[in-house]
Amino acid sequence: MSGSRAEASAPAATAADLPIGVFDSGVGGLTVLRALRSALPDERFIYLGDTARLPYGTKSGETVTRYAEQATRVLVGRGIKLLVVACNTASSVALGHLAAVFAPLPVIGVIEPGAAAAGAASASGLIGVIATEGTVRGGAYERAIRAVRPGADVVSVACQLFVALAEEGWIDGPVAEAVAQRYLANVVGERPTLDCLVLGCTHFPVLRQAIAAAVGPRVRLVDSAETTAEVVVDCLLRSDLRAGHRTREGGAGQAGVRFLATDAPGRFARVGAVFLGEAIAPEDVELVDL
Ligand code: DGL
Repeated sequence: MSGSRAEASAPAATAADLPIGVFDSGVGGLTVLRALRSALPDERFIYLGDTARLPYGTKSGETVTRYAEQATRVLVGRGIKLLVVACNTASSVALGHLAAVFAPLPVIGVIEPGAAAAGAASASGLIGVIATEGTVRGGAYERAIRAVRPGADVVSVACQLFVALAEEGWIDGPVAEAVAQRYLANVVGERPTLDCLVLGCTHFPVLRQAIAAAVGPRVRLVDSAETTAEVVVDCLLRSDLRAGHRTREGGAGQAGVRFLATDAPGRFARVGAVFLGEAIAPEDVELVDL
């Protein structure tokens, strides 16, 4: 009797109750997850780091697109209501493909939000972008920045070593500073009106201090984490997919977050803590194969 009353009053699960899927080649996308969690405290998240195949930034567009599709398939198999591609390299080459293959799942990348933030932040219209080799090669930032700010001048620099430094946890100190100097001092020194630099790789925000020291105080650093979170909030509202407070419980460990990694869950937890800004328990990271 009481059981059937409980059944009658239990709200039916809807698409809004599903978690948001987030993926990156490794732990870099945790900088985006951090912003998403702060903007959407009532949502659940499932994060996949393709640590077995990192880096994506040195691989061909075809390979990155294939990896991105495989990672998305795993997340879709777990049940997600929206996908955030928290990797600039994958966003730059695979976003349209993922949206077509997994339609009607909403798919949001990090390039357009980052470009919008840069377009708004630059007074001079001369904007720098630092990213992986793959992202720079594809020119996605140039196109996205010019779409929001026609006439902007964009100079892009591939800084692939930053990914290795970030993954190693060498985010400050003499080595990080020397690498940042080597990549950036001339780029900025030769362009006195460059006033904004996009951190066009989700691994780069943890190197912010070393990068800021290399470019000096006149250059504003912009990353796409917060603007991406704003786009996700907007998309959930428009699609009527915002979770209610009743879905707060759910994942292992951190309330509402489940972590998947394709290799070395212990390393993911240890290094990922720097990117997420809080500890991750190794037992909360599930090893998956794509
Ligand atoms: N996190 C990836 C990005 O935002 C780059 C790291 C990699 O090369 O896999 O582009």
